[in-house]
Amino acid sequence: MILEGRLWHPQNGLTEGCVAVGDDGAIERVAKTMAGRKQRVCGMLLPAGFDMHVHFRDPGFPQKETWASGSAAAACGGVTAVVDMPNTQPPTDSPTAFATKAQRAAAASVVDFGLGVSARPGISREAWFGELPAAFWKLYPYGKSWEDYRATATEVTAAGGRPLVIHGEHPSHIDMSPPTELAEHTAHRRLAEAECLAGMPASPQLHVAHLSTADGLAGLPAGATAEVCPHHLLLNLDACDSIDCKVDPPLRTPRDNAALWAGFRDGRIAVLASDHAPHLPEEKASDNPPSGIPGVETMVPLMLQQVSAGRLALGRLVNAMAEAPADRLGLPRGRIAAGQPADLIEVDLKAARPVALEQLHSRAGWSPYEGWDAIFPQRVWRRGELVAADGELQASRGGRPLFTAQP
Ligand code: DOR
Ligand code: ZN
Repeated sequence: MILEGRLWHPQNGLTEGCVAVGDDGAIERVAKTMAGRKQRVCGMLLPAGFDMHVHFRDPGFPQKETWASGSAAAACGGVTAVVDMPNTQPPTDSPTAFATKAQRAAAASVVDFGLGVSARPGISREAWFGELPAAFWKLYPYGKSWEDYRATATEVTAAGGRPLVIHGEHPSHIDMSPPTELAEHTAHRRLAEAECLAGMPASPQLHVAHLSTADGLAGLPAGATAEVCPHHLLLNLDACDSIDCKVDPPLRTPRDNAALWAGFRDGRIAVLASDHAPHLPEEKASDNPPSGIPGVETMVPLMLQQVSAGRLALGRLVNAMAEAPADRLGLPRGRIAAGQPADLIEVDLKAARPVALEQLHSRAGWSPYEGWDAIFPQRVWRRGELVAADGELQASRGGRPLFTAQP
């Protein structure tokens, strides 16, 4: 297959050119012109999204999401590779649980996948620590003491190998009693991020998930990388007061949005990730609503809309959604270049449409962005195979593991 049209070239930016894709699903060649039969791209061709933070709930919570439904949502939203978090049931915290989840993903995922493995004290002394093909180790503060949390972060970052991704909220600020309104949830955790990050090791092994505050950004440990989610850029307590938007870390203030935007634009926050965390509307409406906002299908479309509105440079978005997560996790992908997987999206920046719940594929069945203008990709290719077109899934299964061995 040869695609022809405007494309995002990793060195030259938007240029007219052709991309030849081999039968093995890799990009064979990128050149100004090529002989042979070509398919014209309308709008432009970008590297597809790589979302290094999703909760596909499988195994354990099929009413919320499965590998089939979550990966369908990803593909239709222009994301062809994901990393799934370990808080499933059973949790991904052992080679057996890892193998079970990897088998389920390989059997049902449309998109390529990696798995995060839950970190705990002593994990670096396990015989399998250096061998399990995890995307990263993930550390949660829930139910832990600060001493345990901090010691585990220090232990795992010092051990080397895969990165450590932290949920950067100080355990002593985590109040599990149900809030009656959204602002109360935020108020409980006002200092949680900054206090946690202030005590974390300065290590290039450390990656801070879902950065949410101006103070957290200012206090990022030296050498650490960070990600930001669309909801912490686009939503805040002033604009959104529904308890459905209870999320950890919580929505904050417009001042925090502005600081995060500045850090995202200038690359101090390199990575865009969704923290896709589906819960059902009836769970959200209960007396004790779970935290989480679905977002894997809307992440790229909402951010393309920001590009179209002149609030974000296209090159920065391409870097944050494709190049930077791949680089962070040591994978040769995310660029339209020879040898890379042909994971591509066709995008027309003039084709905005409102987010409609009935067109989304997650089992969550709700979105805080309903009615927001967004630019959904017209076609999405995973390793050269068309997996979504005009918001409809074109393939089932076929996703492969991103990590087969530790580097
Ligand atoms: O809001 C959240 N939801 N934050 C988390 O850290 C976990 C996630 C979930 O799994 O629902
Ligand atoms: Zn998460």
